Amino acid sequence: MKTIAVYSSKGGVGKTATSVNLAFTASMAGERVLLCDMDSQGAASFYYRIKPKKKFNRARLLRGEFYEFIRGTDFPNLDLLPAHFSFRNLDIAINEEKKDKKREVLASLLVPLADQYDCVILDCPPNVTVLSENIITAADCVVVPVVPTTLSLLALEQLLKLCKKVGCKKNKILAFFSMVERRKLMHNSIMKKYRAYPIFMQSYVPFMAEIEKMGMYRRPVGSTPRKSVAAQAYELLWQEIRARRLGQ
Ligand SMILES: Nc1ncnc2c1ncn2[C@@H]1O[C@H](COP(=O)(O)OP(=O)(O)OP(=O)(O)O)[C@@H](O)[C@H]1O
Ligand SMILES: [Mg+2]
Repeated sequence: MKTIAVYSSKGGVGKTATSVNLAFTASMAGERVLLCDMDSQGAASFYYRIKPKKKFNRARLLRGEFYEFIRGTDFPNLDLLPAHFSFRNLDIAINEEKKDKKREVLASLLVPLADQYDCVILDCPPNVTVLSENIITAADCVVVPVVPTTLSLLALEQLLKLCKKVGCKKNKILAFFSMVERRKLMHNSIMKKYRAYPIFMQSYVPFMAEIEKMGMYRRPVGSTPRKSVAAQAYELLWQEIRARRLGQ
């Protein structure tokens, strides 16, 4: 089982759009996928039309009693663990764990899923907390959406520092340009400069109305009968992640 976290401390860069669509693409490629919605905003759960059961909460998650709350989606091979509003304090709860175990809480929760899933995708909230440290520790690969702007690049730089702090290998991190608008000079010049760095993938996801409209249709872009440009962008991204970090 491989764990892929879609993470950036910067908000609104396309983490949820990426998690939702990569999860669908991977499931279509035959992988047994679990998408975990780690963000109390519950956007990934919303896109898949799934609400958490009332009995589910942060405490149950942390006790490892969450398997019964995993739900099937409308698509084969693709399950989802919905977020619960109480996840907003997940970092505070994790912080109460013993010091030597603090960073491994999430990784140990995921271990028993290895028989059932080939791939776990984590849609992460936009902050830098002990939860972020757990996410980086648990992930085999951290996929970072970067809008070609200065602040988004800064968030990537901060993530590299965090990686160093928690002692995880930098090569876990794979960035890609997200919400790219080719008509913007700044987007073009930033991409030209940074795509040459090995941390960046060559695939990128353009800014597309179809992705923006996912909130209206509440389904991944690849789920329509005709394959769209947006769906192809996520397919290429998935192939590059697999080839570069998942050893396939
Ligand atoms: N490639 C894209 N083209 C157009 N719109 C996009 C694209 N990617 C994401 N969006 C839209 O931008 C908004 C923010 O995207 P998304 O929710 O995926 O970001 P996020 O990083 O998960 O945000 P948050 O930090 O709040 O969790 C959403 O309205 C989404 O539909
Ligand atoms: Mg999000």
